[in-house]
Amino acid sequence: MIPSVLLLAILPWYVLGVVVPWLDNDPFVEANLHATKLGFGLPPVLSPGEITDETRTLPHEGHIPHYVIDNCPLVHLYSEETYWPADVSEFIRHFNIQTGNKSIVKDAPLELQDLSAGFSPTVQDPDYFVPSENTFLTALDDFGKDPKWLLGHRPDYSTGRIKNAPAILIVVDKGNGWVDAYWFYFYSFNLGAFIMGYGPWGNHVGDWEHSLVRFYQGKPQYLWMSAHGGGQAYIFDAVEKKTRVQYAGAKESSRILERPLIFSARGTHANYASVGQHAHDVPFFFSALSDFTDRGPLWDPSLNYLGYTYNGSVVTPASGPEEKLGVDWLYFLGRWGDKQLNWKDPRQKWCPVQWRFIDGPRGPLAKHLERTGLCQRHKWWNFWGGCPARRSIKRGQGLDAEHNDLVGDNCGILLYRIRPKWLRSLARLVMWRGIACFTMDYFTG
Ligand SMILES: *[C@@H]1O[C@H](CO)[C@@H](O)[C@H](O)[C@H]1NC(C)=O
Ligand SMILES: *[C@@H]1O[C@H](CO)[C@@H](O)[C@H](O)[C@H]1NC(C)=O
Repeated sequence: MIPSVLLLAILPWYVLGVVVPWLDNDPFVEANLHATKLGFGLPPVLSPGEITDETRTLPHEGHIPHYVIDNCPLVHLYSEETYWPADVSEFIRHFNIQTGNKSIVKDAPLELQDLSAGFSPTVQDPDYFVPSENTFLTALDDFGKDPKWLLGHRPDYSTGRIKNAPAILIVVDKGNGWVDAYWFYFYSFNLGAFIMGYGPWGNHVGDWEHSLVRFYQGKPQYLWMSAHGGGQAYIFDAVEKKTRVQYAGAKESSRILERPLIFSARGTHANYASVGQHAHDVPFFFSALSDFTDRGPLWDPSLNYLGYTYNGSVVTPASGPEEKLGVDWLYFLGRWGDKQLNWKDPRQKWCPVQWRFIDGPRGPLAKHLERTGLCQRHKWWNFWGGCPARRSIKRGQGLDAEHNDLVGDNCGILLYRIRPKWLRSLARLVMWRGIACFTMDYFTG
């Protein structure tokens, strides 16, 4: 039953998607070109492999420009969150490292420094090497019972600093004046979504989320934020800002900064630009899987972070606490949480689209940091592979959503411009809020 509903939903979507890009003179396509080429006239963004001494932006690896810190996004965590940000160094103590078939390649207790690109588990056979890609950090405790280390740490109420959970910052030179700042947010556990009141589905141990602020000559141009392996890009100016005193260490300074705001969803920690209910993963009107964001505790990752630069192959630490930790742990490309539970495990359950417990995620270096586009990758339904930056905030729905004239809605600014209101409502109805809206939204947002 579900597959046929999905097919019905996908069919017109594919037809639209194939037809629309053909319409070269179509206004939506024009809008799209405008959106992706706001930086029109600026030199191209380069991937690290293409950068030469002439096109470098940063003076040297390990250098973190002050503008990256000044424009660090502030994160509103969900008010009733259970799984708060966590410290990778503390997290790792509760794991050993196993292969997919459960043979241990490195036993507990682990330190962050024990992670690396691969492992030689036996002394007798030094040639037996297990690449980290094939391994899983595997919890020593039953994570189904919410051990204390799974819960993470709340931000300090007055400063927004989380003393016990550093964010991870990775700065990548993109040449010609461009610089990417990737802020990684680590949580020990991802509590998945509910589908029509049942769930949660898609839980996993270890949760890496991130945002990207892209700068041109020290000025922030774009902000992209991750959500469920996908994400959304915005023109930097479109994102909500919060006026905030700059801190020097833990002390307030006299400088006032305008910082971008993002919202971390309850349980899944997917990032959004607005509060309310957000349908996720499937761009259809069938929006049974939802995320929720609100203006819960504010986290300022710039007050506690580990900073690095990355040139596409080598990670260099900034000069600070990160030097002591070394960089090997970042080359660990295994899973930051247990392998998907066996179906025989009493904790495991299945519903037609998802398991209750799935594999943990891979870490920062697996997130395509050498990208020249803004998106980490494209979902299967985004077959034309574009990643335009929105010029208006995508609004959440439901009771928590805030309504004001600054935000667009699911149909982007196209429907937003239709007057009178009843005509707009009619148009929205006709377009099913999903397929047509999403397609147009893609070209006009
Ligand atoms: C990155 O830096 C390392 C060490 O300095 C160098 O060997 C390597 O070629 C660099 N890679 C790129 C893509 O620039
Ligand atoms: C587990 O997999 C490794 C290779 O990843 C292999 O060498 C080992 O023999 C396997 N162990 C078992 C018990 O199957």
